[in-house]
Amino acid sequence: MNKFMGTLLGTTAFFALSACAESETTAQNSDQNHAFTEVTSPDGRTVVKLMAGEGQTTYSVTRDGEEIVAPSPLGFAFKNMAPLGGDMKVVEANIAASDTTWEQPWGERQFVRDNHKELFVKLAEKDGKHRELNIRFRVFNDGVGFRYEFPKQQGIDSAIITDEITGFQFDDASTAWWIPGREWNRYEYLYNESPLKDVKEAHTPITLKTTGGKYVSLHEAALVNYSGMTMLKNPDGSFEANLAPWPNGDKVRTEGEFTTPWRTIQISDTAYDLMKSDIILNLNEPNKLGDVSWVEPSKYVGIWWEMHLAASTWGSDGKHGATTENTKRYIDFAAENGFKGVLVEGWNIGWDGNWYENGDVFSFTQPYPDYNLPELAEYAKERGVQIVGHHETSGGISNYEAQMDDGFDLFEKMNISQVKTGYVADAGKTHHTEADGTKHYEYHDGQYVVDHHVRVLESAAKRKISINSHEPVKDTGLRRTYPNWISREGARGQEYNAWGDPGNPPSHTAILPYTRMLSGPMDFTPGIFDLLFEEAKPNNRVETTLAKQLSLYVVIYSPIQMAADLPENYGKHADAFQFIKDVPTDWAESIPLAGEIGDYAVIARKERDGKDWYLGGLTGDNARDYAQALSFLEEGVSYEAQVYRDADDADWKSNPYAMAIYKETVKKGDTLKLPMAAGGGFAVRFKALD
Ligand code: NOJ
Ligand code: CA
Repeated sequence: MNKFMGTLLGTTAFFALSACAESETTAQNSDQNHAFTEVTSPDGRTVVKLMAGEGQTTYSVTRDGEEIVAPSPLGFAFKNMAPLGGDMKVVEANIAASDTTWEQPWGERQFVRDNHKELFVKLAEKDGKHRELNIRFRVFNDGVGFRYEFPKQQGIDSAIITDEITGFQFDDASTAWWIPGREWNRYEYLYNESPLKDVKEAHTPITLKTTGGKYVSLHEAALVNYSGMTMLKNPDGSFEANLAPWPNGDKVRTEGEFTTPWRTIQISDTAYDLMKSDIILNLNEPNKLGDVSWVEPSKYVGIWWEMHLAASTWGSDGKHGATTENTKRYIDFAAENGFKGVLVEGWNIGWDGNWYENGDVFSFTQPYPDYNLPELAEYAKERGVQIVGHHETSGGISNYEAQMDDGFDLFEKMNISQVKTGYVADAGKTHHTEADGTKHYEYHDGQYVVDHHVRVLESAAKRKISINSHEPVKDTGLRRTYPNWISREGARGQEYNAWGDPGNPPSHTAILPYTRMLSGPMDFTPGIFDLLFEEAKPNNRVETTLAKQLSLYVVIYSPIQMAADLPENYGKHADAFQFIKDVPTDWAESIPLAGEIGDYAVIARKERDGKDWYLGGLTGDNARDYAQALSFLEEGVSYEAQVYRDADDADWKSNPYAMAIYKETVKKGDTLKLPMAAGGGFAVRFKALD
């Protein structure tokens, strides 16, 4: 078996796991009108119950007896047939247990355990109607996933879903951390913290703390051939799935049998335990691409921040950034400091004028005349570096799809194995055009765009190219199936610090690990060292200390990480820069250790194919007198702890650059003092000494 294939492992030397599969038929209980069937998590703490009978079919979830989801509806409304989900009977219900471990080609951890119990229920309409609907629940120790499986059935060739009526009745006194759903700026909002009852419509993942003290995150897994879901409040205060519509209001168009994405409810006892959950990946299909050893986690620099600071421009109608000469400067810098990639934005025809509106005029094969791509590809290659390609579509999907194969062919010839894509367009404004010129406008999480992303991944994979999408559809774990979907944006990243009004406040990155990051990697682009850039943008700045910029490389996971600042700004802090040069982007294991949502987050990660550990911690508005017990280190090994932390007088507002950088020898069981300044953080490399 190829070690990169990410297929199921049976038993391995690493894990004495027995892959077990048992099967039983559930006890079905019934009162006068209702039948219910239930399944319990392997640890016995979570119980999912399905109820069918008179009226709507419903499900509920409890953990330790606490009601996490009160009985909530299941079913659909269709355009071309009657609603489905009311008055159904259980035809068959089976429970199976499964405990397996599979290997990731890259990720937060190399081996992922998938230990769950499954309840598969076949439902059929009662009283002379005869449509069927199957529902599959998987209950893990850290949460629940369920999906609908609509079987092939007589007389139904297609189903147009106008509403998925899946409900989520949580305790509405829970505290929620959320961003609004379907607003113009897609997923790029600051998070709100409010009682759940004040949420109207939210994107997922949305994270809750219940009055019983449990942490819960609602999201979805394996979003393919379907529309993305937000959580929308009903007039009675409960919530339901709201799918992104097509322009005519259809929500999802299906042919024959279909399965929906999994609706996922992660549940944990602490905020940071949410980050340990692998449910989203476990509910996705295994790798479809075969050998993906060409997907390479790595670090990159690029012609990027200078445009966000307005020191240069994407288009040739200003001070063009993507020139041959400037690119060579970045290639030299990458080669000198061990970075693999050099992103170049603004290299291709189409950026002149208002590029936000230019989606239909971008060329993905024609460079600007002052950018010599073949020469640069060669120049990079000689220095052990690669260009990272860029395809900004501005939401013009037909224009992109017509050219993307040629665009990827060109990049393949130029030795380019990673491409950043972009879909800058307001929500509901990505578009595609029919042969007769009719234009259709779509949401970034609408079914058309969901399917588009898969077409891009498949075309790129044929050329051994990995994709990092910005303004993407949200992550639902498809990196397991398409491991060349190497990263994405899908939240407010560093760029907001250059031009946002406001920028990202200190709490933003203390919320992301518990919300957006539960969905998958993020190309946040950390590593800004000139935090104030007073000349370029006097009204903006980065609201962190310098040490916190380093912490982001460990806390905000991505297999590709940018050193985002201008090369000249790293020389001024060469000692701190050493951490960015050292930190890996691919991990054997990740252990969230401490934190509270919006306050702070601390994570330890062990490098893949090596012995070193890394520790990252960051805080929001408040300084924190933090100390970390080094419980995660290997027994019997001494480590040189290379500590990069806020100096005792550091503060993001008044003294952001003050850092303490030092080394000390430590071992498992020691405690390391790591105080954090307001808006601060720390990063530590534990270099194994023997
Ligand atoms: C928005 C992306 O997030 C940013 O990284 C990129 O520079 C611009 N679009 C231009 O493509
Ligand atoms: Ca963006």
